Amino acid sequence: MDINPAFSFTLKGQAWPGFVGVASGTFGYAKEYDGLSDFTKIGAVFTKAITPEPRLGNPPPRIVETPGGMLNSIGLANVGLEDFIRDKMDFLRRIPSAVVVNVAGALEEDYEKVVDRLEGVEGIWGYEINISCPNVRHGGMSLGTDPRLVEQITARLRGRTTKPLIVKLSPNVTDIGDTASAAQNGGADAVSCINTLVGMLIDLKTKRPVLPLNTGGLSGPAILPVALAAVWKVSRRVKIPVIGIGGITRWEDAVQHLLAGASAVQVGSGSFANPRLAEEVHEGVLEYARSNQLKSLADFHAMAD
Ligand code: FUM
Repeated sequence: MDINPAFSFTLKGQAWPGFVGVASGTFGYAKEYDGLSDFTKIGAVFTKAITPEPRLGNPPPRIVETPGGMLNSIGLANVGLEDFIRDKMDFLRRIPSAVVVNVAGALEEDYEKVVDRLEGVEGIWGYEINISCPNVRHGGMSLGTDPRLVEQITARLRGRTTKPLIVKLSPNVTDIGDTASAAQNGGADAVSCINTLVGMLIDLKTKRPVLPLNTGGLSGPAILPVALAAVWKVSRRVKIPVIGIGGITRWEDAVQHLLAGASAVQVGSGSFANPRLAEEVHEGVLEYARSNQLKSLADFHAMAD
């Protein structure tokens, strides 16, 4: 694989092979996309959220289409920490992409348990701390919308690992710059910006919300402008790199994230409709860079200023 270092996302001296990640919860544990996606063009796989114990998640329906997007209410369903290590890591170790484990839990201690156990496991590039899932009653967004708690949990995890630590931010706040700053103060190496927006659909027959917890997380093209505004704001507020996520369904959307201030991107629910989306974004952005004489990812930011 011939990946130009100027187009590789690097944290703490460790580079992804490229700058396009696939977002947690939209790519399973990667094996689900074996044969459908070209992993040599996927810089990083962000795994499904991992909690200490297995979780069944929320009752169905858990996914519903909306105009311009989709709502999910998965509820952090996952195989749990031990089954993840036993059953999923073998495949993840074989792919060329960096493996970033999305860490979740109900309590701060749960996040610590996951990180502590994974520290001894080979093949993990870094962690994405999920304090922004809108579909659980404990943990998730309830931790990620209070800057004081964001700083506290980030600092607790920072003390337990020297690997790249990325905090995934919620857009469901008054000022996302405040939570981004809190993550930086707590010792995060980067932030993922943004997770889904809280949304609702109502069934006209039952006159009740469609989703089991009433609301869910909105993703898809509808949230691109919200994500771009958040990346723009956060990248001007913090010194650590911003990984742009939200609404990317074409390479042009990823270019906008980079121009707004992102240093890398993640494609999310767009992979459901197009499993080759990450590769297309990788190729499209490189072609845009070539035709605009941009020699590195950093050059995108020079153009934005
Ligand atoms: O419901 C879910 O599992 C969603 C997770 C997330 O948005 O991080």
